[in-house]
Amino acid sequence: MVEKYADWQAWLHDYIVGQRALRIHAFILEKAALAPVLTEKTPRSVLDVGCGGGQAALRLKSLYAHLTITGIDLTESQIVRACQRAKSKQADVQFEVADAQALPYADASFDVVFSFGSVKHWPDPLQGVSECWRVLKPGGDLLLVDSTSDASRGQLLNFLKVAGIPGLLRPLLGTFLDKILVRPARPMTTYYQIAEQLNLPQGTVTQPDYMPTVLFRTRKPLSKNS
Ligand SMILES: C[S@@+](CC[C@H](N)C(=O)[O-])C[C@H]1O[C@@H](n2cnc3c(N)ncnc32)[C@H](O)[C@@H]1O
Repeated sequence: MVEKYADWQAWLHDYIVGQRALRIHAFILEKAALAPVLTEKTPRSVLDVGCGGGQAALRLKSLYAHLTITGIDLTESQIVRACQRAKSKQADVQFEVADAQALPYADASFDVVFSFGSVKHWPDPLQGVSECWRVLKPGGDLLLVDSTSDASRGQLLNFLKVAGIPGLLRPLLGTFLDKILVRPARPMTTYYQIAEQLNLPQGTVTQPDYMPTVLFRTRKPLSKNS
């Protein structure tokens, strides 16, 4: 399990993976039915947890200007790059250094909380998911996605297809990613237990057949007195 995200990993992700990952994000947002939520022309505050170099947050802002978007990441160099990107695009997106396991926001601050590919780096995923849930408003949408060791080769190959990797390269790259991304990840049982411990709504955690990932996807119930 990768727990400390090194600067070289951040650099590699930012310059080689980050832009390509946007295809995966768009695919999952659509499949997980979050895209329609973001398109609705009502003001919404969105938190991207483990935002990396900010590509996903900035893409969303360019598509849906009505969103108020904040991205947080524990790696300072990523936040520096994200801020530079926002500045060069003149995009009004806030980026700050923060730990997913201790989010610096009040309860019920955001309408949408999402995270792509970051949960596996959180030493205490229970605490991290609990924080995402805490800062989500009642009625708000949660989407957390990351690899799981229970993924099949078919799911991994589909991931590479969606990422736009040419067919000939997929088997070899698949074998490599299986070693570095899938095998070291956490099993689905860990995520089911987290959902149970946090009392998340039934069906929040699934393993979608189209990706080598776990999916936390739910809408936070409205509180009885709201
Ligand atoms: C694989 S990258 C994913 C970046 C981006 N979400 C994407 O999909 O392109 C994982 C990110 O999680 C961040 N991260 C790791 N541990 C974290 C923590 N405890 N709190 C916040 N971010 C964390 C890393 O710094 C890194 O930028």
